[in-house]
Amino acid sequence: MNDKSYFSEEHSDEIVNARMGDDTNPRLRTVMASLVRHLHAFAKDVELRQDEWDVAIDFLTRTGQICTDERQEFILLSDVLGLSMLTDAINNRRPDGATENTVFGPFHVANAPIREMGASINLDGKGESCLFEGRVIDTQGMPITGACVDVWSDDADGFYDVQKPGEIPKWNNRGRFITGPDGTYSFVGIKPVSYPIPDDGPVGRMLGKLGRHPFRPAHLHFMVTAPGHDTIVTHTFVAEDSYLSDDTVFGVKETLIAPFEHVRGDTEWRSPFDFVMVPAGGATRK
Ligand code: BEZ
Ligand code: FE
Repeated sequence: MNDKSYFSEEHSDEIVNARMGDDTNPRLRTVMASLVRHLHAFAKDVELRQDEWDVAIDFLTRTGQICTDERQEFILLSDVLGLSMLTDAINNRRPDGATENTVFGPFHVANAPIREMGASINLDGKGESCLFEGRVIDTQGMPITGACVDVWSDDADGFYDVQKPGEIPKWNNRGRFITGPDGTYSFVGIKPVSYPIPDDGPVGRMLGKLGRHPFRPAHLHFMVTAPGHDTIVTHTFVAEDSYLSDDTVFGVKETLIAPFEHVRGDTEWRSPFDFVMVPAGGATRK
């Protein structure tokens, strides 16, 4: 570095980071200094051209401009770059046997109706009916009473109710179920179908340019909460779905692929799955 801290290509990141004030929050200092180091290293690595940086700025501008209260294109960008899954992995390291987390996605709606155990969440009557059942237990195998199993899924055409308000009934394929003393849960939904993430914006166009498809393998979303335990945000995936190995948001984990058994009964399918919760604060940090 030169004495006056004028900009130089060679020391670019050090010069920028040296400007941070003494009172900067220590964590903010760590995060921003690392971000600047890696951004500058990236630009040097690819010998970033001016016209390429102009395209990137235009892309980020359009990504911001398409965001509304209902649409979050930056989260979608984070999802398709694998950054959402990486952040989730860093924050939810759990012991073997505990249920793994996966990507939250943009379609959760808080305060879904609390339904009777065994009730149906499928309000539009479309799709192949499926009984979902299992237990919410701790890592010792003990049932967890009073756990809330919050579920949401797309409809038979691959759309969540919030994507087509007025056309799909509100709360279609959504509900919350509270476990009793035996920790069991059950409800009737549909066998989920694979669907594309919203791909009519800048992120979708980026995927196209990268030769990537926008599809997610069929899955059902779960958020399981219980006092004294870490919240599980996860999915179960339909075994044998053709997109399992190339989910566009990288959400698939082997342990989350659930059986879907064809049955002869009130429903056409049955999908058993147990949720294993760790005590609050049980995730490890390096
Ligand atoms: C979802 O599964 O609902 C989802 C996840 C990430 C991006 C878009 C949709
Ligand atoms: Fe989804």
